[in-house]
Amino acid sequence: MKGLILAGGSGRRLRPLTHTSAKQLVPIANKPILHYVIEDLVSVGITELGIVVGDTGDEVRASVSDGSRWGAEVTYLEQEAPLGLAHAVLVARLFLGDDPFAMYLGDNMFEDSLDEVVAGFEASGDAARLLLARVDDPTAFGVADLGADGRIIGLVEKPAEPSSDLALVGVYLFDARIHAAVDAISLSERGELEITDAIQWLVDNGMSVDHRVLDGWWIDTGKKDPLLECNRLVLDGLAGDGVMVDDQATVVDATLVGPVVVAAGAQIIDATVGPSVAVGAGCRIESSTVDHSVLMEGSSIVGHHRVTGSVLGREAAIFGGGDSGGPGSELSVLLGDHSVVDVHVPVVEPWVDDCLAGEGSGG
Ligand code: DAU
Repeated sequence: MKGLILAGGSGRRLRPLTHTSAKQLVPIANKPILHYVIEDLVSVGITELGIVVGDTGDEVRASVSDGSRWGAEVTYLEQEAPLGLAHAVLVARLFLGDDPFAMYLGDNMFEDSLDEVVAGFEASGDAARLLLARVDDPTAFGVADLGADGRIIGLVEKPAEPSSDLALVGVYLFDARIHAAVDAISLSERGELEITDAIQWLVDNGMSVDHRVLDGWWIDTGKKDPLLECNRLVLDGLAGDGVMVDDQATVVDATLVGPVVVAAGAQIIDATVGPSVAVGAGCRIESSTVDHSVLMEGSSIVGHHRVTGSVLGREAAIFGGGDSGGPGSELSVLLGDHSVVDVHVPVVEPWVDDCLAGEGSGG
């Protein structure tokens, strides 16, 4: 079985973070999401990997290289524009040949073992096997409709009125029949070749499409809050007290509340960091309190009362605002690479409060 990893696309929802960089390379617990995906596939013996890349291909290539460090063999497949998941299969046609394959979206992470997902597929005679997860808001995903016998009868991409709470997780198993399906469908209203339409074609043409429902957590990391939640879950899974500080990091007069990971070259001085914080290489946190956040390489937080629920892109910085400790000094931000936030909290004189209270009472 081959692996097809999708690492193209535009990453609109993580802008400005992904204006310049690939969303699949955003780090979770200091490791790019894409690396978890590769590890997952290699762990079940899928080592022949095709990676679909778009505008950010150079960055993906620099991060993954030929895959030999995982014992994988990587072929890069250029997609000229993000024209849909089924279009990515089309682009990969030559690489895939007639082999069965696991298609894995490069921004998805899930807790369950891939082993159980893949087991028995090739012998099953099924044309596809899908992974489903129950979600609160299915409108953001592909949604599956099951018949009375529990088998999939319909699939709709991001329906306004979902017929079930079963979302399609970004891992799909296919055999060669998917290629006929991809050839048969046309562009959707949003101008993409949808994999959901191709799978629907399989169902409508009498081919068997199997599914598994996930037990553990699953996260499409394409937005800030799910990204932070994924970071939290992965950090929670770390061994021991969950505080992992690289030998080459400096921690002085600081309190680390696990789970926390601190990469090489980072400096944490006179600060409280954690829980659920990933501090990237060369970051600096000084005279600040930081929790539930991801700090990418070279970013810094200096002199701020509290930063929470934030993602800082590479070399981004937050300065100041730390003295007030009052409302407005707590910051939750998503900062693109090299962004700078300089916080000035105005000193509010008591007479201003009096005036405002007067206005409020109509006097
Ligand atoms: O995360 C699960 C969901 O992923 C499914 O429930 C949906 O059915 C499926 O369409 C997909 O929805 P998204 O809106 O999350 O897809 P997104 O555009 O974020 O693309 C998913 C990944 O595939 C991402 O890593 C970028 C990559 N991609 C995407 C497109 C459209 C490509 O490599 N090429 C493409 O043309």
